[in-house]
Amino acid sequence: MLRPILILALMALLILYLRQPSSKSSPILPKAVRTSIKHQQPPPKNGRTVAVGDLHSDLEQTLAVLRLAKVVDADSNWSGGYDTLVQTGDIVDRGPDTIAVYNLFDKLRKQAKDAGGKVVNVYGNHEVMNLGGDLRYVTEEDYASFGGRQKRKEAWDVKTGWLGKQIYDNFNITHVQNGHTVFSHGDMEPEWARLGAETLNLLSREAIWKGDFRNAPIFHGTGKCFLALTKEKEREEDENGSICMEFGPIWSRTHATQEDGMEETCKSVDAVKKALGVNRLISGHTPQYRTGKILSICNGGYMVIDVGISKYYGGHLAALEIIENDDGTQSVYALYPGGKRLV
Ligand SMILES: *[C@@H]1O[C@H](CO)[C@@H](O)[C@H](O)[C@H]1NC(C)=O
Ligand SMILES: *[C@@H]1O[C@H](CO)[C@@H](O)[C@H](O)[C@H]1NC(C)=O
Ligand SMILES: *[C@@H]1O[C@H](CO)[C@@H](O)[C@H](O)[C@H]1NC(C)=O
Repeated sequence: MLRPILILALMALLILYLRQPSSKSSPILPKAVRTSIKHQQPPPKNGRTVAVGDLHSDLEQTLAVLRLAKVVDADSNWSGGYDTLVQTGDIVDRGPDTIAVYNLFDKLRKQAKDAGGKVVNVYGNHEVMNLGGDLRYVTEEDYASFGGRQKRKEAWDVKTGWLGKQIYDNFNITHVQNGHTVFSHGDMEPEWARLGAETLNLLSREAIWKGDFRNAPIFHGTGKCFLALTKEKEREEDENGSICMEFGPIWSRTHATQEDGMEETCKSVDAVKKALGVNRLISGHTPQYRTGKILSICNGGYMVIDVGISKYYGGHLAALEIIENDDGTQSVYALYPGGKRLV
């Protein structure tokens, strides 16, 4: 007698159950819990990578190019969030604003870090010249801004000077970004690349700390080792791939000028890419002021981002932007005041 009633009761329960609003419109978690979970989500993995070339003590143009690249706001503060900003050296010389531009980068380095981003500085030949006392391109306004020649000399001391220490602590001769892009001021030649980025950085740091600016093979730009090598020994060293015989990474222009022809240049670029396991090499140093545009050759394997940003070189604005795609590739753009172009 009880069974039909039981069945009816079960059916009623089933109907009630099915009429329950779905869990979508009635979230199981209270709002506060949901909010805290949302906040625990990790930050986006990769911001953009933005790179700018030689700045030559020109604060106005430096701010203009960093604003163009959207890593600095109208108040000259970091606005790049998780982005990485790479500057490929030659902040100093030819212009008046040496102190202001180095201090801007020092401020941005801290602000970027707080925001989850990063500022990377790479040595140019002019940084190394100034650290080594080669002051051929220092302007009178620059001397005055330091309070005279003696004060300037003290400031640039690597061990005791405020600017020398700032540079030593934060610059490297090369930087590998996210394993796919190598930055150096001059061109990276295969003989140097084979040593690996870390060794190059350690070699340059050691030379700078020791004050060995003129003789250290890594810095010289003449193709001579400054060691009294015989002609025969030179050739042997060359064949052995010695670092002594090659242009150092702050001076070389062999890729930028394609002095051995395009085919040889791209062969050399490919050898460097292979040695460092990267997709592209980015240099400053050889100003593209005739075009004011980023030079890209060897199928985007090599680019020059020194477009002559400072007024001394014509005041051309351009920055490089690298976007990380979901499939592990990168999209590379040139940013100009007139717009953004794939390079
Ligand atoms: C810019 O940075 C300075 C120093 O960190 C700070 O005092 C100022 O409020 C910032 N300006 C803006 C608009 O965030
Ligand atoms: C410079 O390079 C060395 C070796 O790769 C590295 O340990 C160091 O952290 C780098 N310094 C900066 C400021 O990036
Ligand atoms: C070049 O390499 C050969 C063979 O390894 C070696 O005998 C020679 O000493 C090297 N020459 C120099 C200048 O390092």
